[in-house]
Amino acid sequence: MRHAVIMAGGSGTRLWPLSRAARPKQLLDVVSGGVAGDAGDGRAHSLLAEASARLETVLPAERIWVCTAARYGAQVQAALPRLRPDRLVLEPVARDTANAVGLTAALVAEADPDAELAVVSADHVIRPVERFAAALGTAYDALAARPRALVTLGIRPTAPATGFGYVRRGAPTGVAGVAEAAAFKEKPDRATAEAYLASGEYLWNSGMFVWRARTVLDALAEHLPATAEGLARVVAAPAGPRRDAVLAEVFPTLPKTSVDYAVLEPAATEPGRVLVADLDAEWLDVGSWPALAQTLASADGNAVAGLAVTVDSAGNIVFSDDPEHVVALVGVRDSVVVATADVTMVCPVADAERVKQLLAAVEQRF
Ligand code: GDD
Ligand code: MG
Repeated sequence: MRHAVIMAGGSGTRLWPLSRAARPKQLLDVVSGGVAGDAGDGRAHSLLAEASARLETVLPAERIWVCTAARYGAQVQAALPRLRPDRLVLEPVARDTANAVGLTAALVAEADPDAELAVVSADHVIRPVERFAAALGTAYDALAARPRALVTLGIRPTAPATGFGYVRRGAPTGVAGVAEAAAFKEKPDRATAEAYLASGEYLWNSGMFVWRARTVLDALAEHLPATAEGLARVVAAPAGPRRDAVLAEVFPTLPKTSVDYAVLEPAATEPGRVLVADLDAEWLDVGSWPALAQTLASADGNAVAGLAVTVDSAGNIVFSDDPEHVVALVGVRDSVVVATADVTMVCPVADAERVKQLLAAVEQRF
């Protein structure tokens, strides 16, 4: 049967000081508008709630899983009232997506050995939801013809972004909208990304995948054996306190890497193993301030959320999450200004990727 998991264990460091270790971006109510199921209530939603509402247009809630860090478990359950408690996969520590996907796939395969598992991110805005649903349906369909395939949803790139994976479209598969992937490169350098964009042959990897749970476990056994062996030990233990104890012992020792580096890159060298299904929709990875700014209201040439007054200022991203706190700018250009109850952060928009570095420096001091 068809299942899906939302990867929701990232810590969102480039959206500091809005995103915090204790309350990361995917759990914050930052998205206005909403998708099917949520639209029209006039409230902002969390990225996680949106991701779940999107999947609920395709699958029953009982086959939607969420994988996250143990410390976010209660917040995830509160954000998703329809999430079945036994569908919440909790990691004792974050070891990146290769291990998160592997752990979830092992548990899904235990519940349903032939499960077809979609993996989606918790940090995306995708509009309209119907296009997402159609692309996901096509990707699941592709598995009927090629059960051992690793299918990624690909997006037409609009910029030489270095924070994404790139998939080169190869031979057609016979399923409309799905091609073989001729190559996969995770996070290329700038020059390579520019060449990919200019070639017109590459799609962005959306970070959303469809495969059989068994297939991705086999791929991990091949390309990341330490993870496959560790996870086999975990699921060999009976569910409950015994398994939790093995997980707590084994998981922190697994190699920390993403599914893109560990599985997609090497698997794409095998002809026909990786497929790419077109996702023709408005798509945004809300990973940084400039990305989040694209979801904010525009006022006098600035992207603004919260109370802000600007005079002769443009190109700024202004964010105040405290309803009592006014941000006032005069003669300021191309800057990110974020005010929260305990932190004010200012940086040039061009340095927005360096917020991670700033946070590391702050953590050393406080
Ligand atoms: N459970 C769990 N555990 N989830 C995690 C972990 C983890 O250790 N680390 C990250 N995640 C979640 C994040 O919350 C996010 O929803 C998703 O997995 C992807 O992680 P990111 O850290 O945001 O990855 P990325 O954006 O750098 O790169 C991925 O997504 C890009 C598109 O958004 C890759 O798949 C790229 O190839 C892709 O282009
Ligand atoms: Mg991301």
